[in-house]
Amino acid sequence: MPEKKFVYLPEAVDCGENPPPERPHPSVRPAAPQERLPEVDMSVTLAGMTMKNPVCVASGTYGFGREYGQFYDLSEIGGICAKGLTLHRREGNPAPRIAETPMGILNSVGLQNPGVDAFIAQELPFLRQYDVKVIANISGNTPEEYGIMCEKLSAAGVDMIEVNISCPNVKAGGLAYGTRPELAAEVTQVAKAHAGKVPVMVKLSPNVTDITEIARAVEEAGADALSLINTIRGMRIDVNTRRPVLKMNTGGLSGPAVLPVAVRMVWEVAQCVKVPILGMGGVAKGEDAAQLMLAGASAVAVGTAMFADPFAPLTVRDGLRDIAARQGLSAVRELTGGVRPW
Ligand SMILES: Cc1cc2nc3c(=O)[nH]c(=O)nc-3n(C[C@H](O)[C@H](O)[C@H](O)COP(=O)(O)O)c2cc1C
Repeated sequence: MPEKKFVYLPEAVDCGENPPPERPHPSVRPAAPQERLPEVDMSVTLAGMTMKNPVCVASGTYGFGREYGQFYDLSEIGGICAKGLTLHRREGNPAPRIAETPMGILNSVGLQNPGVDAFIAQELPFLRQYDVKVIANISGNTPEEYGIMCEKLSAAGVDMIEVNISCPNVKAGGLAYGTRPELAAEVTQVAKAHAGKVPVMVKLSPNVTDITEIARAVEEAGADALSLINTIRGMRIDVNTRRPVLKMNTGGLSGPAVLPVAVRMVWEVAQCVKVPILGMGGVAKGEDAAQLMLAGASAVAVGTAMFADPFAPLTVRDGLRDIAARQGLSAVRELTGGVRPW
């Protein structure tokens, strides 16, 4: 019998003949180089909610934390923006609904989720085992749906509600709330009226001509904080089949490609509102997060980067701390708004 040759095959096509490829156990995080830097106070406060560090995870990229919780203690994260919730459970859009691009991904997942009641019953108790702020992200077909969800989530005791306004308003002919100041303001008012003492953060869409117009409208309507940016609409076409790669034809772009857009938008918004900002879009390392904070964000969220590296939020947190330490800051919050424009 010929000697058996072991050829590495990716797990997906491994027919059981090959030994498992050698790799570190997922719970083992690669050791960071040891260097003693001065201590930095990493805590930040976002609309009255204090987090032990400014690094959150972005909605829709972390589920409800169960899978990532197998890699590290969720208490290491500042805040978890949970997967987008709707009033009733949703199956999401047909596949393919994720497509790679040179500098990020396109997605058209379509808010697949178990519904707000299932979140409160099953996922919130799981997240509450950890010392991490829980930010519930909601999407509604109508302002009334946002109101009902806010009431339920406020009674359930989440730390913050993030209102996703990048979804279509059924009553306004499918126009996304986030593209019209008056629609965005209406949703914000309804959310605030039903959220009780829980702070409301409104998540802005970048798919607009002037994001500051929406930011101002939402602040005036009572938002306690703003988060930005959501994904940027994009499209990819298979030139051989001439079919769009995503079944929904278009999708939202996220990942490294969107970071400069996010930095620009956070900077523009920070100059025209007083409420704090949670910045996101393409953050993968400390320097990316520091850019968003210098542009005006009080905290940041990591999203797509975690698909390649589940430890990305910890890498971002440590990188941010090192940047602050090297710059002689005693607290990371001193970075916020510190950009020196020409
Ligand atoms: C697969 C996927 C699902 C997402 N789902 C939601 C969602 O349910 N609600 C929401 O407000 N944003 C959602 N987003 C947007 C992210 O929270 C984030 O704003 C965006 O991806 C930019 O950050 P990133 O480049 O770090 O991923 C989703 C993004 C991705 C990639």
